[in-house]
Amino acid sequence: RFAYVDGQYVPHAKACVHIEDRGFQFADAIYEVIAIRNGALMDERGHLDRLVRSLNELKIPLPMSLTALPIVMRELIRRNRVRNAALYMQITRGEAARDFRFDPDLAPTLVMTVRRADFSHTKQLNQGLKILSVPDLRWARPDIKTVMLLPSSLAKMHALEQGADDAWLVDANGYVTEGSSNNAWIVTADGELVTRPADGRILKGVTRSALQHIATLFQLRIVERPFTIAEAQAACEAFSTSASAFVAPVVSIDGKMIGDGKPGRVALGMRERYLRYSE
Ligand code: PDD
Repeated sequence: RFAYVDGQYVPHAKACVHIEDRGFQFADAIYEVIAIRNGALMDERGHLDRLVRSLNELKIPLPMSLTALPIVMRELIRRNRVRNAALYMQITRGEAARDFRFDPDLAPTLVMTVRRADFSHTKQLNQGLKILSVPDLRWARPDIKTVMLLPSSLAKMHALEQGADDAWLVDANGYVTEGSSNNAWIVTADGELVTRPADGRILKGVTRSALQHIATLFQLRIVERPFTIAEAQAACEAFSTSASAFVAPVVSIDGKMIGDGKPGRVALGMRERYLRYSE
């Protein structure tokens, strides 16, 4: 298994960055996760566009050109001989003695790993996900895909400890922002697919955008508006979307069953369409 670290392909077990990398001290870094399905990168363009946006928001320079980056991605996939996997890419501001100030010209650190994945998602599809709602304690810029993931990780662990599968984060006004590492959706009785607008309080998911595109193709109605946990519990269906889980049906929230408590038809249908769309 190989990783890419700043210009070199190295055995995964030997891959490392310096202890004074700002990614380590300050979480001064952004990342992307891209699925590789049947040998092909899914939504590559969308992920690279968002990567550039995240870098721009933090004024971290691109570590290499946008022509070179996909070449490195493909070379790493080739060396790892994977067909179904998740590509993880992280760019930190770079190495510097610990200081809140930073040199704007610091050379960024780029690392990539590839990890085999099972995209049949058997359990998630057969049983659906049980969700626990948790206060959203993240910083005020969740629209940037930073590695500052501690609140999300703690929320997920709390959900698991309570016997749930994932956490949905709830803002101070009682509205769902998103899942711990995915976007949150509900399906109303009128067949509308509802998800929170990209209002700065969520990460604008690439899978979410793909579903919006698919909805226009199939004349499905997607409505962008915030919703509460109570509304989600009363909805016909709920699901979450991400690059690693695709479309994951949700069957309960805070112990309350959604619909008939089985993975919903709309969610499963959107998943199928998403897989076909990204082929
Ligand atoms: N998470 N919201 C949050 C907070 C996320 O971390 C993610 C992705 C998403 C979905 O975005 P996309 O559809 O582009 O994957 C929404 C990745 C998969 C992760 O952290 O592993």
